[in-house]
Amino acid sequence: MMSATGNPTVGIVMGSASDWPVMSQAARILGEFGVPYDAKVLSAHRNPEGLTEWLSSMLAGGMQVVIAGAGGAAHLPGVCASKVPVPVLGVPMMTDATSGLDSLLSIAQMPKGVPVGTLAIGKAGAINAGLLAVQILALSDEALMATWTQYRADQRKTPSDVPPMPGT
Ligand code: RP5
Repeated sequence: MMSATGNPTVGIVMGSASDWPVMSQAARILGEFGVPYDAKVLSAHRNPEGLTEWLSSMLAGGMQVVIAGAGGAAHLPGVCASKVPVPVLGVPMMTDATSGLDSLLSIAQMPKGVPVGTLAIGKAGAINAGLLAVQILALSDEALMATWTQYRADQRKTPSDVPPMPGT
C-alpha cells in the first residue's frame, strides 16, 4: 500500500497480513503528518528474496526509515537492519504463546553492532514507531518539525482536579 503523494520516505514492512491491524496504526500516524510511505507484507523467512528486493528499491527511491513489525521469532526487523543503512524501528506483535514477550525479546535483543530501535508490544508500539519516524525525518525538515512540536504541545493537558470519588 502506497500513501498519497511523493516518494516514500518510510518503509513499513510486516511478516504477515495478520499484523496489519496493528501496523496500520503506524501508517495512520504517517498519513496524519503527511509523510509518504509504502507498506508491504514481506516475511523474512517466507519471502527473503522479495524482502531484499523491496528494501533495495525503497532505498533507491529515498527511504530514510524502516518500520518493521513481526511476531514470535521476530527476526524481520533485524534482517532489515542487516540490509539497509537507515534506522530500523521494530514493533513486536502480540502473540498467543507469550502475549508478545517472544516478539519483544527477539526484536530488542539484537547483538551489538546492528541496532534495531524497539518499541512497545502492539498498538502503542506501532503508534510510537510512526511518531519516532516523524521525529527522525523532522531533524532535516523544518516544516515537519513545526508540525511535530505542535503535536506535542497539543498533548499537554491543563492541570485539573481529579474526578469525584467513584461510587459517591
Ligand atoms: C510472523 O508470524 C508474523 O509477523 C506474524 O506476527 C506471526 C504469525 O503469522 P501468521 O501465522 O498470522 O501469518 O512471521
